[in-house]
Amino acid sequence: MSSNFQAPKGVKEYFPPQSATFLAARDAFATAATRAGYAYLELPVFEDTRLFARGVGESTDVVSKEMYTFEDKGERSITLRPEFTVGVLRSVLEHGLHKGELPVKVWATGPAFRYERAQKGRYRQFYQVDLEAIGSEDPAVDVETIALAWDFYRDLGLTRVSLKLNSLGCRECRPVYRAALQEFLRGLDLDEDTRARVEINPLRVLDDKRPEVQAQLEDAPLVTDHLCGACKAHHDQVRELLADLSVPWVDDPRLVRGLDYYTRTTYEFDHPLLGAQSGIGGGGRYDGLSEDIGGPSLPGIGFGLGLDRTVLAMEAEEVAAVTQSAVDVYGVPLGEEAERKIFGLIAALRRAGVAADMSYDGKKLKGAMRGAGRSGAAYAVILGERDIAAGSAQVKDLASGDQVAVPLAELVTTLKERLAQR
Ligand code: HAM
Repeated sequence: MSSNFQAPKGVKEYFPPQSATFLAARDAFATAATRAGYAYLELPVFEDTRLFARGVGESTDVVSKEMYTFEDKGERSITLRPEFTVGVLRSVLEHGLHKGELPVKVWATGPAFRYERAQKGRYRQFYQVDLEAIGSEDPAVDVETIALAWDFYRDLGLTRVSLKLNSLGCRECRPVYRAALQEFLRGLDLDEDTRARVEINPLRVLDDKRPEVQAQLEDAPLVTDHLCGACKAHHDQVRELLADLSVPWVDDPRLVRGLDYYTRTTYEFDHPLLGAQSGIGGGGRYDGLSEDIGGPSLPGIGFGLGLDRTVLAMEAEEVAAVTQSAVDVYGVPLGEEAERKIFGLIAALRRAGVAADMSYDGKKLKGAMRGAGRSGAAYAVILGERDIAAGSAQVKDLASGDQVAVPLAELVTTLKERLAQR
């Protein structure tokens, strides 16, 4: 019987054994980001609603339809973060990190919230790792971020991730493209909602998945044909540097992202085994975002990778973590006095750096040994009345079944030595 309660609809939670894969992915990302000089940020999960409205953009689905917004007791409008980038930038500016060495390289992780239609791989509370490099226009920084994500997926054992790349131009050339696209779209046979979108956010129409819309978009003008000289040079350099690092990509001039702040480089990672929710990560430049939220002119680039979808991809490619926090030693006390003694021994082992657990609640030998087996331990330490009298414990190798008596005073060192030899 479970309780009277269930988790709220659409949230994703992690429990054993899947939680081991989640943790392995997040830890691997922490290692990769740290190795490349990115420092960790821990940020609030809620912010002033206006930050997202200005930063992510009022015309996006994320802001107009999907935010968890409420008024707090101080009558402030608060929103649970639907993404990390604007909060990261807000924090960097607030604490003056941009006044030091540029680019400011930071990463963050945790839950994000979007009121979406929940299904496998799409949740209302989901998890991202997010990485941002703020204060550089250098195309090498764009490629540093892309290669970091690429290598992260590789290191997890994922071999089927693909990368789509585009440039959305800048504040100079994008309006020209936008107008050309709008003119083209106005001539099509579209429903009322889509026509409204043509006026507000025409680039999003390119992302419309319906075949009757896609069929009409074949001759749509492409953003890459409208880039200004500086954006074209930037885009070409990004592609050259990606080739230098042997990161394969596909040019996708129709790639548009769901958030308004993007400029120049944009990219997405896909996984073919995830069905409709194949986007496992995405990112790009946001050279005007700082000004949009009232900050100085400060370019930036970064990405957010969906941890939930990364876990699903690891399961689909059968590279998910197999062991669940296995310990090395498991204590099996027989009787009250033994339980007290083993309790101390297990604590001493842990203090000496050995992963150890034990049986509680006065279990009999059979039940306690079952616990030892399930724990994944290499050795069981069995302690009965006769052992206590002899001042030793039985150390049982759970793989071979061999058992020897070890003096209690030597137990920690003996087990450490044996484990080191394995
Ligand atoms: P995004 O494309 O909206 O970008 O989200 C990044 C990733 O988060 C997606 O590729 C997907 O894997 C995951 N994701 C998004 N929504 C959900 C959901 N409802 N359920 C499960 N997973 C989801 C951003 O959020 C940008 N802030 C990325 C960025 C950072 N751009 C520049 N810097």
